[in-house]
Amino acid sequence: MHLSQRITTLNGGGSDGWGVFYRARQMIAEGTAVTELTIGEHDIRTHPSILAAMDRAATGGHTGYAMVPGIAALRDTVAARIHARTGVPTTRDNILITPGGQAALFAAHMAVCDPGDTALFIDPYYATYPGTIRAAGARPRAIVTRAADAFLPRPEALAQAAPGATSLLINSPNNPTGVVYDRATLAHVAQTCRDHDLWLISDEVYDTQVWEGEHLSPRALPGLADRTLVIGSMSKSHAMTGSRCGWIAGPPEAIERLIDLATNTTYGVPGFVQDAAVFALTAGDELEAEIAAPFRRRRQLAHAILARQSCVGLIPSQGAMYLMLDIRATGLDGEGFATALLETHHIAVMPGESFGSAAAGHIRVAMTIEDDAFAAALSRLCTFAADLAALNTQVAQ
Ligand SMILES: Cc1ncc(COP(=O)(O)O)c(C=O)c1O
Repeated sequence: MHLSQRITTLNGGGSDGWGVFYRARQMIAEGTAVTELTIGEHDIRTHPSILAAMDRAATGGHTGYAMVPGIAALRDTVAARIHARTGVPTTRDNILITPGGQAALFAAHMAVCDPGDTALFIDPYYATYPGTIRAAGARPRAIVTRAADAFLPRPEALAQAAPGATSLLINSPNNPTGVVYDRATLAHVAQTCRDHDLWLISDEVYDTQVWEGEHLSPRALPGLADRTLVIGSMSKSHAMTGSRCGWIAGPPEAIERLIDLATNTTYGVPGFVQDAAVFALTAGDELEAEIAAPFRRRRQLAHAILARQSCVGLIPSQGAMYLMLDIRATGLDGEGFATALLETHHIAVMPGESFGSAAAGHIRVAMTIEDDAFAAALSRLCTFAADLAALNTQVAQ
């Protein structure tokens, strides 16, 4: 039977750089111990106090259909949090609760793009971005950044890509690079959106993982609140990846239409999950800091290890649970290096190529295993890279 063009072309074709990840999973299934530094998921589980809140809600009967836009308590809590953190007046009318940030990304593009419209995104990018845009019927167009610019988009690249586009998707703190967009970059992003009448879709799911500087939400910039849809999630801030709870914050007219979309697609998020999210978001900043702490620690460990060698370069990053490492001195590309590391040392990392062309020659390391094992794996990775680089230099001579 015929399957739609939309669904059969979602992945865009070609190698997506995820071969190393699947090879690692296959090795594990066959009994090999593999150190996985691949997926962006905490090594801790959801906090027992959040689970207890979820249990209370579920056993208390909150298991029926929940209100499609989200329960009032969660919409209010998310609105208050955004208002307090950004200064932008925000009420429940600005908020739609979604089954995670991924569903929010899809819904946001559905809300602003007509079929065939051009939707911009920044390369390197979170792996689902182009497929999400295609799923919404739009055409993805990448704005390629450079390692030398810490993968921040240049103003001229933004201005060049913008004419004729409908939306621009940015992500700060960034997956895969860990870079946090500075005020100047966000000002250029805002200017581009105003100049070219673009919607801005701002993926802020890592907003609690900032190790240096501060997270700035572009919705707070002049003239942006009416043209910005912010993507938020409980996944990373509260280690609730499996609970599937996130949100879109935006202008009430857009949220109203997005509620129509939710009615006809997801039909809401389980009530007991939303109750647990209210509990988690009102539990105070300490809980968020506790959940983020392991990544902060491991980043320090990584800095110390990387400072002792000169072969692997670190992209200066300020947030999120990842490190982007430049391994070009080895003479290999990201995929070649990641494959060799997996086969030789049973350490799995993501090739930069999995996140677009801009990150070729790099690898992404997720800081998602316990500290000692993380430090040991990173040290081994550096030694391996140094050996390869020495070989590479000999061959070149
Ligand atoms: C940048 C970014 N956006 C969105 C998501 C989606 O997260 P979730 O659907 O779990 O909220 C992820 C998950 O890894 C991500 O890295």
